Amino acid sequence: MVRLVVVGAGGLVGRRVVNILDKDPIPDLRLYLTGRSESIGRQVEYRGQTLRITHTELKLLKKADIVLLCTPGETSVELVQAIRGGPVIIDTSSAFRMDPGVPLVVPEVNGREIFSHKGLISGPNCSTIQLVMTLYPICEQFGLSRVYVTTYQSVSGAGYKAIAELERTSFDFITAGSTSHGDESQFPHPIAFNLIPQIDGFLANGYTREEMKMVNETRKILGIPDLPISCTCVRVPVFIGHSEACLVETQKDPSIDVIREKLNQFPGVTVLDDPSSYVYPTPLQCEDTDEVYVGRLRRDLSSNKGILYWVVADNLRRGAATNACNIVRALVRGEG
Ligand SMILES: NC(=O)c1ccc[n+]([C@@H]2O[C@H](COP(=O)([O-])OP(=O)(O)OC[C@H]3O[C@@H](n4cnc5c(N)ncnc54)[C@H](OP(=O)(O)O)[C@@H]3O)[C@@H](O)[C@H]2O)c1
Repeated sequence: MVRLVVVGAGGLVGRRVVNILDKDPIPDLRLYLTGRSESIGRQVEYRGQTLRITHTELKLLKKADIVLLCTPGETSVELVQAIRGGPVIIDTSSAFRMDPGVPLVVPEVNGREIFSHKGLISGPNCSTIQLVMTLYPICEQFGLSRVYVTTYQSVSGAGYKAIAELERTSFDFITAGSTSHGDESQFPHPIAFNLIPQIDGFLANGYTREEMKMVNETRKILGIPDLPISCTCVRVPVFIGHSEACLVETQKDPSIDVIREKLNQFPGVTVLDDPSSYVYPTPLQCEDTDEVYVGRLRRDLSSNKGILYWVVADNLRRGAATNACNIVRALVRGEG
């Protein structure tokens, strides 16, 4: 029997983890759910049983085989310090992603690194996961020389309070014309009917932390430490689903047909690309699914070796929970 504790089980990512394990169970898994405050006592249906979210007790975590942290970064740091050396820890936050001793894993891309862990494995940023799952098959076939990406990230990337804020401020805007977003806002500007070209704080180089996460995490996962990547991250008033407009320059002459085929064959990626019939991925269409969807594949008119495409995925599932569950499955099976 494998004892798995999901910490932050009542949050956006944690709830999806339970849902994924309920629909596609891991044999002999015993699941424990914990939280901090708002979710304590909440009942959760899982495999015909009713589980209850309890306080996060270190004693429970230390006795587990695997602890999956679906918690803010500062909580992950505290819990990792307290229990490391006991269970294998999978952390979905950004706290340890760039630690050279911690594997940063998308199982479809670098799953073999799961077994080099020293007690702790990190899951990447949601926008990074869908980007690397498209870059990797292109890289294998044609090599990469440069990546340009602009993201259109939904509010759920900022946690459950951000979803409530978009609902409330959209209603206030429509019913009263109000553009106030309040002191407790998750965003620096109103998000309803707006776009915000800032996700997380700014760094001295003029980029945001989110943009540098995408750059650094993509390089680490692909194992190309000097890959040139230009990135702009934008928050958009969409509830769930991150979209990205990508321009990728390859080392060898790219073929759109081969790239389409390689992307479609890659596990977890589906090409939806028939613009004449309005077929291309959109966030609404991708909600509640585990795939990364690619469309609008075309040659770049301004360079010989450039291709453009549009990629969309459910950030809560594919961008966090599905990836984490796939790491748990690989650990339990004992293969990456
Ligand atoms: N949202 C995304 O698209 C996404 C994608 C990739 C990675 N991530 C990362 O995944 C993590 C979770 O994100 P989320 O969107 O699910 O956030 P969320 O909806 O705000 O949920 C966070 C959860 O963490 C729990 N928590 C907070 N402090 C805790 C503590 N000290 N002890 C135990 N539980 C604690 C909360 O419990 P209570 O409800 O009981 O207060 C809450 O359920 C974050 O690190 C985030 O950066 C998120």
